[in-house]
Amino acid sequence: MEAQQVEIEAVLFDLDGVITDTAEQHYLGWQRLADEAGIPFDREANEALRGVSRVESLALILGDRPVPLEEREQMMARKNDYYVASLADMGPDDALPGARELVTGCRARGLKVAIGSSSRNARTVLAALGMLDAFDGIADGASVEHAKPAPDLFLHAASLIGTAAEACVVLEDARSGVDAALAAGMRAVGIGPEERVGHAHLRYDTVADVDIDEVLAPRR
Ligand code: G6P
Ligand code: MG
Repeated sequence: MEAQQVEIEAVLFDLDGVITDTAEQHYLGWQRLADEAGIPFDREANEALRGVSRVESLALILGDRPVPLEEREQMMARKNDYYVASLADMGPDDALPGARELVTGCRARGLKVAIGSSSRNARTVLAALGMLDAFDGIADGASVEHAKPAPDLFLHAASLIGTAAEACVVLEDARSGVDAALAAGMRAVGIGPEERVGHAHLRYDTVADVDIDEVLAPRR
């Protein structure tokens, strides 16, 4: 599946749920939209949306309900308005515990660092956190056509920083993101519960738990 012996040269970070807890704000935006439309939706159903693009998230919420394209676009715009409004109070303190230190720690070791996020709001969120300059490259929801779980976004992030896929490790909180990293032939580190990201090469409960030496260690 991958060349495990290659030395890791770069760390690709998912954004929502890894660098900051905007996964929760995405959920609240979808929940409000679903409530308004009278569509059953809850936290459990939201698990399937984690890391999934805006258009595919709405498709999952709507299921087989016949909703015309124009109305879908309005719904996506509304959810995005809710989400963007919820970012208004966001500041540097809203990075997840350990996230900023992990990024700077990677850089201090001479590793390249990049963002691989499905979100079209990635730069807005990074700016709010004061982390726009913390990365060597930013791949976001507008970067590629095929969203996670396709490998394209992480491959694009790797190309932005001039690193071979097999020399990249990905930190991801979403099942679809771990799938994307594996499909890209990268080392995958899951952040979150076993049932969600247990198929990654390594898993930690939170970003603060990540042991970078363990992540970088050659694997068999
Ligand atoms: C990330 C989040 C998803 C979100 C997607 C698109 O992957 O984990 O919850 O749906 O980005 O975000 P956007 O800001 O473009 O709607
Ligand atoms: Mg995520």
